Amino acid sequence: MNIIITGTSRGIGFELTKQALHAGHRVLATVRSLASAHQIVSLKEMSPNLHVIEVDVADNSAPNAISAAAATLPHVDILINNAGIYCEEDSVDDFMNSFRVNSVAPFFITSALLSQLKKSNQPKVVQITSLMGSIADNTSGGSYSYRASKAALNMINKSLAIDTPWLTTIVVHPGWVQTEMGGPQAPTPVEESAKGIWHVINNLQHKDSGAFFDFEGDRLPW
Ligand SMILES: NC(=O)c1ccc[n+]([C@@H]2O[C@H](COP(=O)([O-])OP(=O)(O)OC[C@H]3O[C@@H](n4cnc5c(N)ncnc54)[C@H](OP(=O)(O)O)[C@@H]3O)[C@@H](O)[C@H]2O)c1
Repeated sequence: MNIIITGTSRGIGFELTKQALHAGHRVLATVRSLASAHQIVSLKEMSPNLHVIEVDVADNSAPNAISAAAATLPHVDILINNAGIYCEEDSVDDFMNSFRVNSVAPFFITSALLSQLKKSNQPKVVQITSLMGSIADNTSGGSYSYRASKAALNMINKSLAIDTPWLTTIVVHPGWVQTEMGGPQAPTPVEESAKGIWHVINNLQHKDSGAFFDFEGDRLPW
């Protein structure tokens, strides 16, 4: 399969890429800066099926840049919008940056890739969201910009699922994961999270489009 994954310099995006290559797929991986993406650059040296492009998903040019790179593939089977940020503070700039990266970018990147996704027999889009974007699950408050940006992503994905009936598009919470964002105290190793996400993707059915899953395949409350 031909797979596009954003935000692959480290964390969940890097591990999703590694596991996809191991399963024999071709991956177009995006990183914000090749100069600091040492892990993926090393992986590329060993992986003929890995193509890496430099894209800041917050740039207006990002959707077209990814779509242009994807045009070299016969079709796109899976898009994973993984790149994300967590802002500790909730200034106006933090809100704008969070929405830009976590909500707006996945929408426009998905939109730019629809024609290449449509050429696949079973096209799938996976938006990496967070349980923190669940209004029903919010019992502790705080994290305004992050929570709001992921809630927006959940809503965007639901509309995409309705408006694009040939596509299977879902939001997935990866768990609380041991990455730079999740911190060392997180209970879930990154390998386990990525393995779970791949299991969810591989077992997806078209009727699941628009749904909110976690990495163990359980449905989450909105
Ligand atoms: N870790 C958790 O516990 C947890 C829980 C729920 C949801 N999530 C979600 O899971 C996804 C991955 O998180 P993670 O834990 O792997 O975080 P991470 O270790 O902080 O990695 C984030 C990735 O996103 C990339 N990124 C950030 N802003 C970008 C931009 N403007 N353009 C391109 N790439 C950008 C980063 O690239 P750089 O190296 O260039 O910064 C990095 O590759 C995120 O969407 C996050 O919200 C994580």
